[in-house]
Amino acid sequence: MPQVLTVHSYRGGTGKSSVAANLSVLLAKEGCRVAVLDADIHAPSLDTIFGINPGPGACSLVDYLVGECEIEDAVFPLEPPGLFAVVARTSVASINALTTSGYDVGLLSEGYLRLIGAFGLDLLILDTRTGLCPETVTAMASCDRLIVVSRADRLALVGASETMALTNRLGCSERALVVNMAPDGQIGEDFRRRLEDLHGCPIEAILPYEPLLAAHDGEGLFVTAHPNHPLVTGFRRIISAVIK
Ligand SMILES: Nc1ncnc2c1ncn2[C@@H]1O[C@H](COP(=O)(O)OP(=O)(O)O)[C@@H](O)[C@H]1O
Ligand SMILES: [Mg+2]
Repeated sequence: MPQVLTVHSYRGGTGKSSVAANLSVLLAKEGCRVAVLDADIHAPSLDTIFGINPGPGACSLVDYLVGECEIEDAVFPLEPPGLFAVVARTSVASINALTTSGYDVGLLSEGYLRLIGAFGLDLLILDTRTGLCPETVTAMASCDRLIVVSRADRLALVGASETMALTNRLGCSERALVVNMAPDGQIGEDFRRRLEDLHGCPIEAILPYEPLLAAHDGEGLFVTAHPNHPLVTGFRRIISAVIK
């Protein structure tokens, strides 16, 4: 099992956070100690996905980066036991402090190692922001394995070349490709070949576009609400092909 798993996509809205969060819950249900960290400080989503409401005085990744807390203080224990989350920030104001004063990027990888040690983690999942911001580049450079999430359209083919150029520069050789939001869970053979060629690795799972997930506005995660859904079968495939 890799210790640090980064989930990335070239474009936003591809399903990175959904994949990261649902995988973490499935793994924790199997007894794995897993933390998922929201490295998208500009547009965080794990707090919403997990229903975390950081109260007054709560800490986040940004608070750690500006030196206001230790990374361990920014960890929220969740259900099932053994599952933890680090939210990106607790207020919009805190991001101003970060962008005005800047921060030491080395704190990111140092923090990841500290989390693994302090919480005895089997796996730390880093949910990234699209693009080349320092948090994303560091997450890609610090991971043992990278999951690249792609959609099943021609824009994904354009993004693939740029993603590959970056991953090659960063030395991410342990890559896995997941296609998300495939209409009817299908992709054409020609598209598969082109996407796999561009990424230089096979597609490990094709996740269907699922209106139930797109409209999921209730409590809890999709894997908990619909444990026998084909989409959850796809998440399990990612675990057995990429994580274990
Ligand atoms: N397979 C899917 N089918 C339908 N909707 C999905 C699927 N995966 C993700 N979504 C929805 O797409 C939106 C963007 O997903 P998100 O995980 O936030 O993407 P990203 O983190 O890449 O920006 C969310 O509303 C999410 O519920
Ligand atoms: Mg996201």
